[in-house]
Amino acid sequence: MKSLIVYSSATGNTRKLAEVFANEIEDAELLSIQDVKVSMLKNFDMLYLGYWVDKGDLDAASAKLAEHVQNAKIVLFGTLGAADNSEYYTMVKRRIETHFQDAKLYGHFLCQGKVQESVIARYRQMIKEHPDDVHMQEQLKNYEKGRTHPDETDLQKPAILSVPSPKIPYEDGFYVYLLRCCDESLYCGWTTNLRKRFYDHVMKKGAKYTKAHRPLELYYFESCEDAASARKREYAIKQLSRREKLALRNIKKEAVTNKK
Ligand SMILES: Cc1cc2nc3c(=O)[nH]c(=O)nc-3n(C[C@H](O)[C@H](O)[C@H](O)COP(=O)(O)O)c2cc1C
Repeated sequence: MKSLIVYSSATGNTRKLAEVFANEIEDAELLSIQDVKVSMLKNFDMLYLGYWVDKGDLDAASAKLAEHVQNAKIVLFGTLGAADNSEYYTMVKRRIETHFQDAKLYGHFLCQGKVQESVIARYRQMIKEHPDDVHMQEQLKNYEKGRTHPDETDLQKPAILSVPSPKIPYEDGFYVYLLRCCDESLYCGWTTNLRKRFYDHVMKKGAKYTKAHRPLELYYFESCEDAASARKREYAIKQLSRREKLALRNIKKEAVTNKK
């Protein structure tokens, strides 16, 4: 599989993430967005697109490229000035994903990046003029704290995105899943938080088995009513032959198609 890693980065934060991907992913080309020609895109199976957040949305160069990546397999990653706050991050991520409605989204990672010193200086000046503005003070604190980001911990996290997965729901629930591992074995498990569980497996914190057999892909998942049915389903899937397990993905697609 040939991957293209493209980054749009005004001050270098998102470029740092892109470089992590370039080290993690085999057979990948790394390019700044200015060097990308639309005609190149068809030569790649997977596009990793790095953006920076501009006024709560995708930066202009990435938004322009987004118009040309419909139907493509993509992984999104980006940086923004705000400190990690899951509500704001989720809102921004969802807004950004609306630019890629017809693409197949295989992952999305967002983390804090430092803002320019000139922005920090501007906030300091503004606070002098409006000393009672609590919101502005909070923002300044956040930007000052963010000076070291993306830091080493941030840069470890996108490793998860080097492992393709179908779009994982944001919601907690009861999920049974199959991981395809580096020796082509299939690992079956269940969880209430599929995003976290998948991440733990990729980071070798999920299970003894996946620590020794690196996951290559979240091959399949389905949701269940409750914990008891998830456990039952996990047991049932574990009894299947390898061929039957591999067929689960197609069976699900057919079931969806038949409903139409
Ligand atoms: C014009 C401008 C608008 C920005 N808007 C936002 C924003 O709405 N929310 C946010 O959290 N950060 C915002 N930021 C901060 C950047 O997203 C952040 O510094 C990012 O890490 C820059 O990435 P880069 O170094 O790859 O260019 C903005 C920065 C600039 C210069």
